Amino acid sequence: MNVGVIGCGTMGSGIAQVAATANCKVVLYDVNQEALKKSEQALEKILSRLVEKGRIDEDKKNQIVGNIDYSVELKDFKNSDLIIEAIVENLEVKHKVFKAIEEIVSEDCILASNTSSLSITSLAACLQQPERFIGVHFFNPAPLMKLVEIIPAIQTDAAVVEKTQETIKDWGKVTVKAKDTPGFIVNKVARPFYGEALRIYEEGLADVATIDWAMKSFGHFRMGPFELMDFIGNDINYIVTETVFKAFYYDGRYRPAFAQKRLSEAGYLGRKSGRGYYNYAEGAENPKATEDEALGRDIVNRIIIMLINEAADTLHLNIASAKDIDLAMTNGVNYPKGLLDWANELGIQYCVETLDGLFDEYHEERYRCSPILRKMAVENLDFKVKINA
Ligand code: NAI
Repeated sequence: MNVGVIGCGTMGSGIAQVAATANCKVVLYDVNQEALKKSEQALEKILSRLVEKGRIDEDKKNQIVGNIDYSVELKDFKNSDLIIEAIVENLEVKHKVFKAIEEIVSEDCILASNTSSLSITSLAACLQQPERFIGVHFFNPAPLMKLVEIIPAIQTDAAVVEKTQETIKDWGKVTVKAKDTPGFIVNKVARPFYGEALRIYEEGLADVATIDWAMKSFGHFRMGPFELMDFIGNDINYIVTETVFKAFYYDGRYRPAFAQKRLSEAGYLGRKSGRGYYNYAEGAENPKATEDEALGRDIVNRIIIMLINEAADTLHLNIASAKDIDLAMTNGVNYPKGLLDWANELGIQYCVETLDGLFDEYHEERYRCSPILRKMAVENLDFKVKINA
């Protein structure tokens, strides 16, 4: 299969590596010759390390390297069967590139975007053949993260969806299908992991170290919310939250936190700037968790139930199937368990009571219980049948 990748930044380089590893012939295109050179050198380094670790042999490395051509000429996409775009997150720029590409490729070539925040439908709309367009959303780093969200635009042909999903599965990825809605599955469902942690912190119920400790010790997450925000970058994480908030017509459920906005304004971006919620300077004093088990369990409960509510509402709005929602969170962001599965364990009735308790206390939209949870509690159902369907 001939694959084209547009943009050789963080994501495009990773996607090219994934496709080349699956033995596709890849053309990696960028407007910036310097960036292409960097991408080529970075891949060489990554593959050499994999050889050293014994994950691949020298032959495989040479095959992967040989499968990628680097280009600054759009015409090199002429024979592509599938093109995945991973350039700057700007609708006009992406439209311009896709229009130019449509002039070059054959009618059967599938065009895809790796966008995180633009509507797939709005991207497809610039094409003469919008039915060939689809969203293919990888996670960073693409070669390591198993999940890829497949997002049909409303114009997308069913055969294009099927073919794309099969191809990405053949590349060794776990695919889930999502409706074209803001944040797709992962970036929507994950909001309370950060948002509710920030809320608990802003109210002074616990400090960042205690919240992180609780989520790791009792929630079994690999990283606490504040460690993770510092890792992602507080600027980036804030923008994703704000984008989802605006895109859902200012639904109070997704309202961003001032605490994060201020950190971002101060340039306390996290690990990349040396300071965020924590100070990463050598020898810096950082807050220690208050290891109070009752408090820790309350914190985890509140955040998990808010996550469950978001996952349930994602199902309620038919954004994805129950099975795909759980697969997305375990494979896209390494959650220890699927959230709907988690709801079954905690008990749907208990989740509803906890949400209603928070709503009674705050009278805020963010705590409104999803209708699907309430209905299931009344009917004494759980998500098992839906997850296994
Ligand atoms: P990046 O900034 O690392 O790389 C973008 C690359 O595109 C650069 O090499 C730039 O030279 C090139 N470029 C810009 N305009 C171009 C044009 N008109 N034609 C050809 N090349 C052009 O960006 P990154 O982080 O890789 O993101 C790319 C896309 O992937 C965005 O749509 C983003 O929303 C999405 N994405 C990013 C994730 C991340 O964690 N960074 C995760 C999932 C999706």
